[in-house]
Amino acid sequence: MRINHVGEVCAQALYQGQAITCRDAALRQSLEKAAFEETEHLAWTERRLVELGDRKSLLNPLWYLGSLTIGIVAGKFGDTWSLGFLAETERQVEAHLDHHLNDLPSHDEKSRAIVEQMRLDEISHANTAVHLGARQLPTPARHAMRLVSRFMTATAYYV
Ligand SMILES: [Fe+2]
Ligand SMILES: [Fe+2]
Repeated sequence: MRINHVGEVCAQALYQGQAITCRDAALRQSLEKAAFEETEHLAWTERRLVELGDRKSLLNPLWYLGSLTIGIVAGKFGDTWSLGFLAETERQVEAHLDHHLNDLPSHDEKSRAIVEQMRLDEISHANTAVHLGARQLPTPARHAMRLVSRFMTATAYYV
Protein backbone atom coordinates (compact mmCIF):
# COMPACT_ATOMS: atom_id res chain seq x y z
CA MET A 1 0.00 0.00 0.00
CA ARG A 2 2.99 2.28 0.54
CA ILE A 3 3.98 1.73 -3.09
CA ASN A 4 0.46 2.62 -4.20
CA HIS A 5 0.62 5.76 -2.10
CA VAL A 6 3.94 6.77 -3.72
CA GLY A 7 2.34 6.12 -7.10
CA GLU A 8 -0.45 8.53 -6.28
CA VAL A 9 1.97 11.19 -5.06
CA CYS A 10 3.70 10.87 -8.43
CA ALA A 11 0.42 10.83 -10.36
CA GLN A 12 -0.61 14.15 -8.85
CA ALA A 13 2.75 15.72 -9.51
CA LEU A 14 2.77 14.46 -13.11
CA TYR A 15 -0.70 15.82 -13.81
CA GLN A 16 0.13 19.15 -12.19
CA GLY A 17 3.36 19.41 -14.16
CA GLN A 18 1.59 18.57 -17.41
CA ALA A 19 -1.17 21.07 -16.69
CA ILE A 20 1.46 23.80 -16.20
CA THR A 21 2.95 23.32 -19.67
CA CYS A 22 -0.27 22.30 -21.41
CA ARG A 23 -1.14 24.46 -24.45
CA ASP A 24 -4.87 23.85 -24.67
CA ALA A 25 -7.39 25.21 -22.14
CA ALA A 26 -9.90 22.34 -22.50
CA LEU A 27 -7.13 19.81 -22.13
CA ARG A 28 -5.82 21.59 -19.06
CA GLN A 29 -9.29 21.23 -17.56
CA SER A 30 -9.38 17.48 -18.07
CA LEU A 31 -5.86 17.19 -16.65
CA GLU A 32 -7.00 19.06 -13.58
CA LYS A 33 -10.06 16.82 -13.25
CA ALA A 34 -7.89 13.71 -13.38
CA ALA A 35 -5.48 15.31 -10.91
CA PHE A 36 -8.42 15.75 -8.54
CA GLU A 37 -9.29 12.04 -8.79
CA GLU A 38 -5.67 11.28 -8.00
CA THR A 39 -5.96 13.34 -4.80
CA GLU A 40 -8.81 11.01 -3.81
CA HIS A 41 -6.60 7.99 -4.52
CA LEU A 42 -3.92 9.62 -2.43
CA ALA A 43 -6.34 10.06 0.48
CA TRP A 44 -7.63 6.46 0.28
CA THR A 45 -4.17 4.93 0.20
CA GLU A 46 -2.94 7.22 2.97
CA ARG A 47 -5.88 6.30 5.22
CA ARG A 48 -5.39 2.61 4.54
CA LEU A 49 -1.66 2.88 5.32
CA VAL A 50 -2.50 4.36 8.72
CA GLU A 51 -5.11 1.64 9.36
CA LEU A 52 -2.52 -1.01 8.54
CA GLY A 53 -0.11 0.63 10.97
CA ASP A 54 2.40 1.34 8.24
CA ARG A 55 4.14 4.56 7.25
CA LYS A 56 4.48 6.64 4.12
CA SER A 57 7.64 6.61 2.02
CA LEU A 58 10.32 8.87 3.47
CA LEU A 59 11.24 9.88 -0.06
CA ASN A 60 7.84 11.38 -0.95
CA PRO A 61 9.17 14.95 -1.38
CA LEU A 62 11.74 13.55 -3.79
CA TRP A 63 9.14 11.49 -5.70
CA TYR A 64 6.94 14.57 -5.90
CA LEU A 65 9.63 16.90 -7.22
CA GLY A 66 10.94 14.32 -9.67
CA SER A 67 7.49 13.63 -11.06
CA LEU A 68 6.59 17.31 -11.28
CA THR A 69 9.72 17.89 -13.35
CA ILE A 70 8.92 14.91 -15.59
CA GLY A 71 5.35 16.23 -16.02
CA ILE A 72 6.60 19.69 -17.01
CA VAL A 73 9.09 18.20 -19.47
CA ALA A 74 6.41 15.87 -20.93
CA GLY A 75 4.16 18.89 -21.40
CA LYS A 76 6.95 20.70 -23.28
CA PHE A 77 6.89 17.99 -25.95
CA GLY A 78 3.41 19.19 -26.93
CA ASP A 79 -0.07 18.04 -26.03
CA THR A 80 -0.33 14.84 -28.06
CA TRP A 81 2.99 13.48 -26.74
CA SER A 82 2.15 14.62 -23.25
CA LEU A 83 -1.15 12.71 -23.49
CA GLY A 84 0.72 9.71 -24.88
CA PHE A 85 3.00 9.76 -21.86
CA LEU A 86 -0.03 10.03 -19.61
CA ALA A 87 -1.85 7.12 -21.26
CA GLU A 88 1.25 4.93 -21.01
CA THR A 89 1.76 5.88 -17.35
CA GLU A 90 -1.84 4.97 -16.52
CA ARG A 91 -1.53 1.63 -18.35
CA GLN A 92 1.60 0.78 -16.39
CA VAL A 93 -0.13 1.74 -13.16
CA GLU A 94 -3.05 -0.50 -14.16
CA ALA A 95 -0.63 -3.40 -14.71
CA HIS A 96 0.95 -2.76 -11.32
CA LEU A 97 -2.47 -2.71 -9.63
CA ASP A 98 -3.37 -5.99 -11.38
CA HIS A 99 -0.30 -7.59 -9.83
CA HIS A 100 -1.09 -6.09 -6.48
CA LEU A 101 -4.65 -7.47 -6.60
CA ASN A 102 -3.18 -10.91 -7.25
CA ASP A 103 -0.86 -10.58 -4.26
CA LEU A 104 -3.39 -9.08 -1.83
CA PRO A 105 -4.91 -11.60 0.58
CA SER A 106 -8.56 -12.25 -0.28
CA HIS A 107 -9.67 -11.40 3.27
CA ASP A 108 -8.20 -7.87 3.05
CA GLU A 109 -11.41 -6.53 1.59
CA LYS A 110 -10.70 -2.89 2.42
CA SER A 111 -7.41 -2.82 0.53
CA ARG A 112 -8.92 -4.76 -2.36
CA ALA A 113 -11.81 -2.31 -2.67
CA ILE A 114 -9.39 0.62 -2.84
CA VAL A 115 -7.11 -1.01 -5.39
CA GLU A 116 -10.05 -2.15 -7.52
CA GLN A 117 -11.56 1.34 -7.65
CA MET A 118 -8.21 2.94 -8.42
CA ARG A 119 -7.67 0.41 -11.20
CA LEU A 120 -10.99 1.40 -12.79
CA ASP A 121 -10.15 5.10 -12.49
CA GLU A 122 -6.68 4.65 -14.02
CA ILE A 123 -8.22 2.74 -16.94
CA SER A 124 -10.62 5.60 -17.49
CA HIS A 125 -7.76 8.14 -17.29
CA ALA A 126 -5.87 6.23 -19.98
CA ASN A 127 -9.00 6.04 -22.16
CA THR A 128 -9.62 9.77 -21.75
CA ALA A 129 -6.06 10.52 -22.83
CA VAL A 130 -6.46 8.34 -25.92
CA HIS A 131 -9.79 9.99 -26.67
CA LEU A 132 -8.13 13.42 -26.43
CA GLY A 133 -5.55 12.46 -29.03
CA ALA A 134 -2.72 10.69 -27.18
CA ARG A 135 0.09 9.44 -29.40
CA GLN A 136 1.58 5.99 -28.92
CA LEU A 137 5.03 6.42 -27.33
CA PRO A 138 7.99 4.75 -29.05
CA THR A 139 8.91 1.35 -27.57
CA PRO A 140 12.25 2.49 -26.03
CA ALA A 141 10.42 5.26 -24.16
CA ARG A 142 7.91 2.75 -22.79
CA HIS A 143 10.74 0.46 -21.70
CA ALA A 144 12.55 3.32 -20.02
CA MET A 145 9.37 4.26 -18.14
CA ARG A 146 8.99 0.66 -16.99
CA LEU A 147 12.56 0.66 -15.70
CA VAL A 148 12.03 3.90 -13.80
CA SER A 149 8.82 2.63 -12.22
CA ARG A 150 10.47 -0.68 -11.30
CA PHE A 151 13.24 1.24 -9.56
CA MET A 152 10.71 3.41 -7.72
CA THR A 153 8.58 0.42 -6.71
CA ALA A 154 11.62 -1.43 -5.35
CA THR A 155 12.83 1.64 -3.44
CA ALA A 156 9.43 2.54 -2.00
CA TYR A 157 9.03 -1.01 -0.71
CA TYR A 158 11.87 -0.36 1.74
CA VAL A 159 12.24 3.41 2.17
FE1 LIG B 1 -4.38 7.14 -9.21
FE1 LIG C 1 -4.74 8.01 -12.89
